[in-house]
Amino acid sequence: MGLQSSLPEARAGDVLGGLSDSFGRLAGKLRVSVTDRCNFRCDFCMPEAPAFLDQSEVLTFEEVTRVTAVLATMGVAKVRVSGGEPLVRRDVERLVGMLSRVRGIKSVSMTTNGALLKGKAAALKSSGLKGVTVSLHSLRPELYDEITGTKDMFSRVMEGIAEAERVGLGPVKVNCVVTRGCNEGEILDFARMAHDSGRVVRFIEYMPFDGTKFWDTGMVVPGSEIVAAISARYPLEPLAGERGSTSTNYRFADGSEGTIGTITSMSRPFCGDCDRIRLKANGNIVPCLFSVAEYDLKHLLRGGASDEELESAVRRAFSQKFEGVGSLMENKVEVRHIRPMYTIGG
Ligand code: 5AD
Ligand code: SF4
Repeated sequence: MGLQSSLPEARAGDVLGGLSDSFGRLAGKLRVSVTDRCNFRCDFCMPEAPAFLDQSEVLTFEEVTRVTAVLATMGVAKVRVSGGEPLVRRDVERLVGMLSRVRGIKSVSMTTNGALLKGKAAALKSSGLKGVTVSLHSLRPELYDEITGTKDMFSRVMEGIAEAERVGLGPVKVNCVVTRGCNEGEILDFARMAHDSGRVVRFIEYMPFDGTKFWDTGMVVPGSEIVAAISARYPLEPLAGERGSTSTNYRFADGSEGTIGTITSMSRPFCGDCDRIRLKANGNIVPCLFSVAEYDLKHLLRGGASDEELESAVRRAFSQKFEGVGSLMENKVEVRHIRPMYTIGG
C-alpha cells in the first residue's frame, strides 16, 4: 500500500493552519517526555545508569505548557505525558492540571511504570488525567524484577493499577514489550488478564532503542504471531482502527470486555497514518521516533521568542518528518543508535 492511500482525510485543522508535514500528515497528538530519569532499569530501555540531564536543562512545567498551547493552536488535541518515568518528576500532577486546562487540549494521559502510581492516582485523576497506561512486562514477580532491574516491585505495580481503576482512571491500558526467549511464554496469561479484568493489554514489538547491543531482529516477537497464539485459546475479532492509532486492536469473540492490541512498530510500521509529534524533556522537538535530527526549542523559549516564532520553529521541525520506515524485520536498518527509549518515552 502506498503512503498516498493511507493519508488522513482533511480535518478542520487544515483550514485553520494545522501542523502538517511534507507528506500531508497532520499532528494531532503530542508525546511529552517530562524527565529522562527512571526508578527502573528495563533491559530494553535503560539497562545501565546513564548521565542524566541536569535539572537546568529540563523544561519547566510553564515551558512545557507554553509549547503545548502553541501546538494546540495548530490542531494538537491530545497529550501523553511520558518519561523516563513521569511520576519521578516532582509534582507532575500539577503539570497534568496545567496541560488539561490548555485551550484545545481534549485529553491528557500518561504512560508510567506504575511503581509510584498507588500514591499518585487520586491526585492525577483530580488534576484532570484522562487515562493511564502502565508498562507491565511480566506477571511473574521474579521475571518482572529481572526485566525491570528492580526488587519486589511487581505487587506494588499491581496495587497501583488497582488504585488507578478505583479512582476512575480505568480501564487501565497495559503495555507489554514481548521479547523472544524471555516473556513470550506469558502471552496467554496477559490475554487472560485482559479477558477477565476488562483491561486493554497491548503487546509491543521490541524496538532497537535499548541504548546497548542487546537488540536483534531475532528477539522481536511479531504481532501476528501473538494474535495467532491468543486466538487459539480466546478467539478474537478485529476492531475498527482509530485514526493515528499505533495499535491494531481486537475484542474477544465471547463478548468479554477486555481488549487486545499489538503495536507492530517492527513488522508492520504505521508511519503512513502517524499523527504524533514529540517533545523531549530537554526541549527538543523530535518529529519521529526514527528521526536522527532533533530541533531545539529551549533556546527560543528561554531567549524571549514570541509564540509566532515558536510556531514557525515547530513548523520547520515538523516539515522535516520523513516518510517513514518499511518493515524493519527484513530491512537490516541500523537504527539502534538513534536514541535510547528512556530519552523519548515511546
Ligand atoms: N522497544 C519497545 N518498547 C519499549 N519500551 C521501552 N523500551 C522499548 C523498546 N526497546 C516501552 C516502555 C513503555 C513504552 C513507552 O515503550 O516499556 O511501555
Ligand atoms: Fe524506566 Fe520505562 Fe525505560 Fe523501564 S521502559 S527503564 S520503566 S523508562
